[in-house]
Amino acid sequence: MPDYVGHVLVCATPNEDGNHCGSKGGPEMRQSFNRALVDHGLLEKVTVSGVGCTSQHGLCDQSQCTVIVYGPKRELGGTWYVASPDDVDEIITEHLINGRVVDRLVNKEKNVDFE
Ligand code: FES
Repeated sequence: MPDYVGHVLVCATPNEDGNHCGSKGGPEMRQSFNRALVDHGLLEKVTVSGVGCTSQHGLCDQSQCTVIVYGPKRELGGTWYVASPDDVDEIITEHLINGRVVDRLVNKEKNVDFE
């Protein structure tokens, strides 16, 4: 496994309307990724950072937020997910470790199809 595996962008953008990721799963999602990366021994190999609103929060239920994952393979590009903290282990295991997109969580309105 290369030293640097991937980059996870989590939206936790707040807004007073209560409909943005900061009022939904965003804040907990970022904490969940940081905890899970420690558990998987990947804290030094995956960067987690915030991303501003990309106008996708309308797709998210109250537990979800926008997540964009880069890596571990070039052909995965930036994969856009609508996900909740309960999905973090699956994203880490399937996407970042095994290099397979988690189809059930893909935001099909934003995802780039490389096929
Ligand atoms: S607040 Fe996250 S996509 Fe808009």
